[in-house]
Amino acid sequence: MNTEQPPPPNQSITERNNLIKTATEARAKAFAPFSNFKVGAVLATKDGEIFTGCNIENASYGLTMCAERVAIFKAISEGESKFQTLVIVADTENLTPPCGACRQIIWEFCGDVEIVLANLQGKTETMRMSELFPRAFDSRFLEK
Ligand code: THU
Repeated sequence: MNTEQPPPPNQSITERNNLIKTATEARAKAFAPFSNFKVGAVLATKDGEIFTGCNIENASYGLTMCAERVAIFKAISEGESKFQTLVIVADTENLTPPCGACRQIIWEFCGDVEIVLANLQGKTETMRMSELFPRAFDSRFLEK
């Protein structure tokens, strides 16, 4: 099944394919000797800047950092705050979505961003973060 949707108005299909290619290249840099499960990510800002990420594992497994969070934290640390697209690439037939912890982080820093899932065979699927993470907890609940 391929439920691909057209890219947003300011992003061509070529640009989206380039983001997927860059995320695939980022995946090759994953440090995943414990799971052997490599993930790559690209976070594109509304201005067209891109930040890559890969998963980075640790012998103390719980310290592992997912590809998505690496890309997001790189972007935030560079002062970026307006994001358009997050691409996630893994080598799975059933496209790999962000884990629960990443969904919380993505929602807080990227809001209802476009999410593109892809594998190495060219299968892609596009959705909005609000579809992946309905009824999110966020800072609005902390307002009195
Ligand atoms: N992982 C990611 O980097 N992103 C995901 O969306 C799913 C899981 C990583 C964490 C760990 O290094 C490996 O994949 C297996 O869980």
